[in-house]
Amino acid sequence: MERLRTHQIFWNAHVRKEKNRERNLEKRIHTDLVWQEIEPLIRPGIRVLDAGGGFGRYSMALARRGCRVVHLDLSPSMVEEARQQAQEAGVSMEFVVGKVQDLSCFAEESFDLVLSLDAPVSYAYPEEKKALQELIRVTKRFLVISVVNRLGQVPVALEMELRWHKKLTWTKKFWESGNWDHPSFFEAVEERIPFFSRFLFPPLHAFTPQEIIDLVTDNGLRIRRCVATGTLARLLSPAIRKKLIRNQELYQEFLELSRRYDAQFEVLGVGCKVASGFLLVGEKEKRDEENMGESDIYPA
Ligand SMILES: C[S@@+](CC[C@H](N)C(=O)[O-])C[C@H]1O[C@@H](n2cnc3c(N)ncnc32)[C@H](O)[C@@H]1O
Repeated sequence: MERLRTHQIFWNAHVRKEKNRERNLEKRIHTDLVWQEIEPLIRPGIRVLDAGGGFGRYSMALARRGCRVVHLDLSPSMVEEARQQAQEAGVSMEFVVGKVQDLSCFAEESFDLVLSLDAPVSYAYPEEKKALQELIRVTKRFLVISVVNRLGQVPVALEMELRWHKKLTWTKKFWESGNWDHPSFFEAVEERIPFFSRFLFPPLHAFTPQEIIDLVTDNGLRIRRCVATGTLARLLSPAIRKKLIRNQELYQEFLELSRRYDAQFEVLGVGCKVASGFLLVGEKEKRDEENMGESDIYPA
């Protein structure tokens, strides 16, 4: 079956699950940390593309802050959910069903800020490089992407593989290549019974930090920030995560500490276990002073 279709079947079936993910406190912390990376980059009136925006986890908040948001996603059900939420909240956004590896409906440098969060670039595999090029082409200034962090996901691959057999073949292949494919016998079932795809985590490419840094810089962006988002949170016990979240003052202090910890070179290959574990902020040299202001968000 065509890969795009496999992904659509999976994501169309996961709208409710996506919306409920913050019940897992590791994910809740991840979302709050990602928001802290985005927030300094936004101003009312800037044009933002949320590519692979899902049900609107970030695009809704951006539209509420007065950004002019285009929300794009591969899954018609995700886009429909985002559209309904926007309508209910009375915020305006533009919606596009489309794929991150083909942004040909947008001209070069159409957006001040381009986001692609929680791994749409990884899911664009085997066209992950094309996806990156497209995202870079359409941004005028900032790109914020988060991708699957390869080493951080090796334990997840291992746990998944052990559900099916007593070998570590898929895990070793995943570690070496970064590619997570459906085994051929599953692909044969998906071909005959497309419904089956909703139960299989979709194929993806997991990046090492250096791999994604090289790709982004080779395509002309200056790296402003690299973070293995959620590393510190991942290393805590569930009880401590709960304790932190219950105390707002302590929680804010913890988020600050996490942002520093997760950006340390020594942990860049780890990241959150339950969401994309590597986030990168890139910036084009050219500045659109009119829209973004000549701010020194990231000193030269
Ligand atoms: C884990 S969700 C993240 C959604 C949102 N960015 C967030 O952080 O809440 C991944 C999203 O990527 C979308 N997606 C997967 N492959 C894609 C592709 N090639 N192009 C565009 N969107 C894609 C899925 O439909 C899904 O909504």
